[in-house]
Amino acid sequence: MEGPFHPLFVHFPIALYLLGVGLVLIHLWRSRPDFEQSAYRLFLLSWGAAIVSALVGLVDKGQLAFDDPRQGAMNNHITTAIAFIVLNGLLIYTRFRWPDALTSRRWQYLGLMLAGLALIVITGRQGGDLVYGLQIGIR
Ligand code: HEM
Repeated sequence: MEGPFHPLFVHFPIALYLLGVGLVLIHLWRSRPDFEQSAYRLFLLSWGAAIVSALVGLVDKGQLAFDDPRQGAMNNHITTAIAFIVLNGLLIYTRFRWPDALTSRRWQYLGLMLAGLALIVITGRQGGDLVYGLQIGIR
């Protein structure tokens, strides 16, 4: 089988995270603790899926020559992806350490969640630019 394989995985962390954010927002609106509990699990799954995507992405990156001028854009994508993994990890830790974080530490929790949202959107956008703009994985 021939790569790239990263595109097979990247949709999972994005979709899981967006669903988690949606459930948190519904909980804030309609007070649904079961939705908030599910959101926590979705953030965890998104974190795991992002790690797998990143590892597979590193393998795909190996196909790019060391002196390829597109390495700069690639590194920006990696930086944003790692920042997302770190922030989502902090969000999960906050919820694990303080199960009522959405009440007791509301702004810390929502701040982390929204920063993670911004980062995953930027990561996905950069990834799209790598493929459809710079044709990485195509030529
Ligand atoms: C160390 C981390 C990462 C590396 C080295 C990496 C590398 C790459 C590479 C090489 C591509 C071009 C397609 C290919 O050849 O596979 C790409 C595209 C992409 N990446 Fe990443 N990536 C990383 C993390 C992530 C993460 C965590 C996400 C999502 C949360 C992500 C989302 C995307 C998307 C959406 C594309 C466009 C795929 C397409 O439209 O076909 N990347 N990335």
